[in-house]
Amino acid sequence: MPNRFIVGNWKMHKTISQAETLIQDILALYQPNPSVELAVAPPFVDLQAVSKLLTSTPIHLAAQNVCAKDEGAFTGEISPSMLKDLGCHYVIIGHSERRHLFGESNHMINEKIHAALHHDLHPIFCIGERLEEREAGHSLSVIQHQLQTGLAGVKTQDFHTITIAYEPVWAIGTGKAATVEEATEVHAAIRSSLSTHWNIDSTHIRILYGGSVTAENAKALFHSPHINGALVGKACLNSESFVKIAEISA
Ligand code: PGA
Repeated sequence: MPNRFIVGNWKMHKTISQAETLIQDILALYQPNPSVELAVAPPFVDLQAVSKLLTSTPIHLAAQNVCAKDEGAFTGEISPSMLKDLGCHYVIIGHSERRHLFGESNHMINEKIHAALHHDLHPIFCIGERLEEREAGHSLSVIQHQLQTGLAGVKTQDFHTITIAYEPVWAIGTGKAATVEEATEVHAAIRSSLSTHWNIDSTHIRILYGGSVTAENAKALFHSPHINGALVGKACLNSESFVKIAEISA
């Protein structure tokens, strides 16, 4: 498993034809590097078209969300097996926009993590504090709580399939990324919490940083030994900046 992992979270951007163009542009620019893994997370409606274009390429497909149920009367939801069927390898779970705009609780997120693991979908589990929590000095306790509730009941042997993304809410979409020191402090705390709470060797767990990552600030962030890659929003909608971030991470 490459130590560097760069994931593009397209959020609610790109129609099918726009998605095809973006992927073709990324594939034209990207020179695969064995130390870096790349994944894209387009909207649900684009997954099939993007999946076809990614066949036989080293870029993995991710979904942005998943339902915790296998099937049934759950209007508007998408099940883990539907995502597997479309070729998804990863799924983003617990993104702050899901938590704060759509009311996802730590408990719901925990159910989604278990559902994804059950179907062999690898979770990219997002955690992060809000500005008022940081200003009150509660960043690390918020992170610990999100980790412990979100990952409750996860078996030791499943941890190698889980990626953690630390995304401070105040840094997402604001243009104000965390400093390397701020991110490193939280990443180190996440790693130590995984080791003490779950008794696992957390040196092998990939912990990404997310929140206003750009081709300009990526280099400094990737200098930190605790930061294994990035979950990129705005900058991944442009093929050049997304590929540049991947190159910088190598
Ligand atoms: P941003 O989004 O890079 O636009 O801040 C990151 C994310 O929400 O994952």
